[in-house]
Parts: sequence; structure tokens; C-alpha cells
Amino acid sequence: MMRAYRASLLWFAPHSGGPGRALFEEDGLLVVGPDANGVQVVQAIGPWREVSASYPTVAVTHFPGRIIAPGFVDLHVHFPQTNVIGSPAEGLLPWLENYTFPEEKRFEDPEYSAQAATFFVAELLRNGVTSALAFATSHPQSVHALFAEAQSQRMRMITGLCLMDRHAPADLLNRATANSTVDATEQSLLDSEALIAQWHGKDRLGYAITPRFAPTSTDAQLRGAGELAAKYPDVWIQSHVAENKDEIAWARALFPASRSYLATYADFGLMRKRAIYAHCIHFDDDDRALMRDTGAAAAVSPTSNLFLGSGFFDYAGADRVGFQYGLASDVGGGTSFSPFHTMLGAYYVGREGHATQGLSLSPQHLWWQHTAGAARALGLDGEQGQAAVGNLLPGCEADFVVLNPKATPLLARKTALANSLDELLFSMIVLGDDRLIEKTVISQAI
Ligand code: GUN
Ligand code: ZN
Repeated sequence: MMRAYRASLLWFAPHSGGPGRALFEEDGLLVVGPDANGVQVVQAIGPWREVSASYPTVAVTHFPGRIIAPGFVDLHVHFPQTNVIGSPAEGLLPWLENYTFPEEKRFEDPEYSAQAATFFVAELLRNGVTSALAFATSHPQSVHALFAEAQSQRMRMITGLCLMDRHAPADLLNRATANSTVDATEQSLLDSEALIAQWHGKDRLGYAITPRFAPTSTDAQLRGAGELAAKYPDVWIQSHVAENKDEIAWARALFPASRSYLATYADFGLMRKRAIYAHCIHFDDDDRALMRDTGAAAAVSPTSNLFLGSGFFDYAGADRVGFQYGLASDVGGGTSFSPFHTMLGAYYVGREGHATQGLSLSPQHLWWQHTAGAARALGLDGEQGQAAVGNLLPGCEADFVVLNPKATPLLARKTALANSLDELLFSMIVLGDDRLIEKTVISQAI
């Protein structure tokens, strides 16, 4: 069955290499209906007058004064770190040790994992996030819990077992099964493969091979992860890199044969398309070229980087060399589930670059980085027949948000003054939060 929604519409022109240009229709119509597989996708989008003439019999839901926009894509978020938000530390490593690892230990309990998954998925949806690439913990039960909850909400969720076989508290490392001759490292790889078989490609779920970061994996674990990545080329890879100076020094000391911290991942076969590396702050141009040449993408996590004092993603460097990136909350290093807060954080980070590199991020570019740009980084932009999210072009899965630009007195006052699309988008980026998201609509299977 077809359905249509009348409102102002925001979406992005098909990409031509660079960031997508925003399109806006003051009085628009979005028509959704099933594709050949029964998945609800966008059938048509454009001016209400024109599109409604082509679909005269389709029932229309009208949202006067509202804006329909693509559901947001969070490129990097930690499901077990909801309770860690706002935990102050001198920097990344003490933050991990004092706050993050103790909380993640609790996910050994399937019931704790299940209730945390229910909250986490609801919180993402409440904030307009309809697709996410998320870390779970080193316990398979945490992965099952998140997949099960995302499946029940029909959310597009990619997650995986956190691989960590050294340099973390013993009760958080991957574990061998009792009375087995298989060691913990090998077991973590077997568990990952079993989770791929059970969940990858089921409904809207995807698996990500998830070494936490190089310092908490042995060579054997990274090698095994790379072998899995080669065996399952359409599975994702996620990890962290070049976030913090102490972390980098540690990684360099542990893997001295690699040219750089990033190159360690390449040396173990963990850089390719569908590999997403969080942070990517302290790079040189060889690292940037490695990202570009392998097709890996960066999950830029501005609120986390500002909160933990990690540094500033170099947008000018990324664009000069030409690798892909998108936006991420990185909760709980990140301070908010709201894509508006993340986009504002990215603007501040871009301003830092502006002081030295003449770069300032436009609101369209910020919004694109959290929707169509992030989807492209994931390989979910409809190229080569894959699914497409993060946009409302015909064929995209029909995940969208209904924004109320009058949601607060200040938003109402400010958005009413907007004289251009950029002014309107900036007002929402700067003043917006979960109150701006009136409704989140997820693509339904028929
Ligand atoms: N590096 C390794 N683990 C983590 C984590 O949980 N959060 C962040 N921000 N960086 C990491
Ligand atoms: Zn992270």
C-alpha cells in the first residue's frame, strides 16, 4: 500500500563525489510504498502540486508547518555507554579505566543488557536516529540484546562483539568457554563468526567486526579479525584510531613495525570499504591517503573529542586528500544522543580549522554529514544495488523525521526569521534537540 505525507521537505541531491547539496520544498509531497521485496521505500518526492497529480488515489497525511527530513545516521555510538555520558576524566585512557570499563562489565548479565538495549534504541529513535553503527561489549549476550531490540523496532542497526583480549580488566576480556581447548582469542573469533551467521543481513541488521582499538588486541586477534573481514566482505568493520596522544604512543609502542597507528589496521587486513574508524584526529597525509585508497571512512565525533579534550578533526586535511567521513555521537564519550548537538559540535570543530585553514562548515554540509554522507560512508547509499538510507531520493528506505520548527518558544521565534535555507538549518542546528523531533517514522516491511 502507498502512503503520502505532505509537509515541507528536506533532502539531498544525488552525490557527485563531494558533499550533497540540500534540496528543500516548502509545500512538498513524499510518497512511500513497497519495493519488489516489500520494503517501504520512497516512490516520489517533490512539490505537492506536481507529485499529488501523479498519485491521485493515495491517502495523504498532512503535517502543516512541519519539515520532513531523512532519519539521521549515527556512524559511531556505544550501546553500553549510555550511563557513562558526562563522566569527566583527564583524557581517554583514565576515562576508559575509571568509568567505561566498570560500566561495560555489567553487560555480562543478559537482563541488564536487554533493559539497556530497550532504553538505547528508544533514545536513538526519540532523537531521530534511524540507522546506527554501534559498539556492544565483549559479551555475546550484549550483541544479542541489541540486535533483538533493534529488530523488534525495525531499526537499521549494525553492531558486533567487542574484541579485546588484553590490556583491560580480566573480567571484561573476551573469554574462553569452560572446559574448552579453544583459547579466549580464538573463541572471540568463533563467537564473531557465529553472530555473523545469526544476525548479518537479517531484516535491517548488519554485523560489524569490532576490535575495540589496537592496544587491547593481540596480534593474533587482529590477524583473525582481518581474516574474518576477508571472508565476509559485506560485513562492516569498526574500531577507534588516533583519538588521543597517549593512546597513539601506546599503540605505536605495541605495534612498532607498522608505519603509523592507522597503518597497524591496514597491516592486519582491517582497512577496506565498510570499515569505519572513529576519531581519526591525529593523522598525517600518508594516513589520509591510506583512508582514501582503502575506502575506509572516519566517524567524526565532535562532542566526544571536545569533552575528552582529544583534539579537533581536520576537515581541511580530509577534503584535501579526499577520504570519506560522517558524523557520530560517540556516546558515552560523546555528550548527547541528539544529532543537533553533534552537528553543532562539528561546527565548532570546523571553526577551529577556520582559524588556520579558511574552512567553515555550512549547515547543509553538517546536515549531510549526519544523513546522506554518513550513509555513503557505510556503503548504504544505494550504489551497486545496496540499500540506501540517510536520504529521501526515490528508492531510499522510508526512514524519516517530522521536525517541528516551532517546538520551543526560541525556535519558533528564530526559525520564523529565516530568509534562506541555510538560515533555517542553522537555527535548528544551534537551537535544536530532541524537542525538535516530533515524530520518527521507520520504513516498514509489508
Ligand atoms: N578507544 C577505545 N575504546 C574507546 C571508547 O569506548 N570510547 C572512545 N571514545 N574511545 C575509545
Ligand atoms: Zn567510541
